[in-house]
Amino acid sequence: MSTTKGRFLTFEGPEGSGKTTQLKILAEKLRAAGHDVVETQEPGGTRIGAQIRQILLDQASNDLKPTAELLLMFASRAQNVDEIILPALAAGKIVLCDRFTDSTLAYQGAGRGLGADAVYDIDRIACRGLVPHRTVLIDIDVQTGLARATQTRMEQQPTAFHRTVRDTFLQLANDDSRRIRLIDGARDKEAVAADVWDAVADLLK
Ligand code: TMP
Repeated sequence: MSTTKGRFLTFEGPEGSGKTTQLKILAEKLRAAGHDVVETQEPGGTRIGAQIRQILLDQASNDLKPTAELLLMFASRAQNVDEIILPALAAGKIVLCDRFTDSTLAYQGAGRGLGADAVYDIDRIACRGLVPHRTVLIDIDVQTGLARATQTRMEQQPTAFHRTVRDTFLQLANDDSRRIRLIDGARDKEAVAADVWDAVADLLK
C-alpha cells in the first residue's frame, strides 16, 4: 500500500530462528535513532488476536482442522491490520510485525498443503493489498531451530512439516529478493543484528 507514510517491516523464519529477539533489537535501535516504532505479532498483536493465538497454539487444539487454522490466522491478521498496523502507518510510524502472510504461505499453504492460491485469496480480504515494505527472513536449519523452540501445537508438528516450511521461506526469498532479505540466523545475535540493520537501513532515510 504505497499511499501510507509509514514503513511496514516484517520478520519471518522457521521455529527457533531468533527473529523475535532480532525484532526487539531493531526496535530499540530505531527508537534510539528517533523513530516512532510500533511492535506487533502474528498471530496476536491485539486483544482479540491474543485470544485467537491461544486457540491456535494451545496443544489442546489438536482437533483444529487446517482450513479453520488458516482462517483463524487471517482473522487475527485482519484485526491487527485494522486496529494496529494501518493506523500506525497512516500516522507515519515504523511498524515491526513478528510474522505475517509469508508465514501463512509457508505453514498453511505449503506445510498443511492448502496451496498458495487459497492464502492469497484470503489475504486479499484480510489485508486489502497491504504488503510489507521489507521482510527480514532469519534462516536456521530445522534441527537447530526446533532444539531452541518451546512446545506449542505448531512446533510439535513432524520434522518433515518444518522442512517444508523452511524450504518455502527460502523459495519465497529467492522469488522476491527485493522485498525479502535472507539472513543466516546461526551466528551470534550481534552479527545477525548488524545484517538486519543493513537489510532495512535504505528504507529509513
Ligand atoms: P511465533 O511463535 O513465532 O510467534 O509463531 C507462532 C506460531 O504460529 C509458529 O509456530 C508459526 C505459526 N504460524 C502459522 O502457522 N501461520 C501463520 O500465518 C503465522 C503468522 C504463524
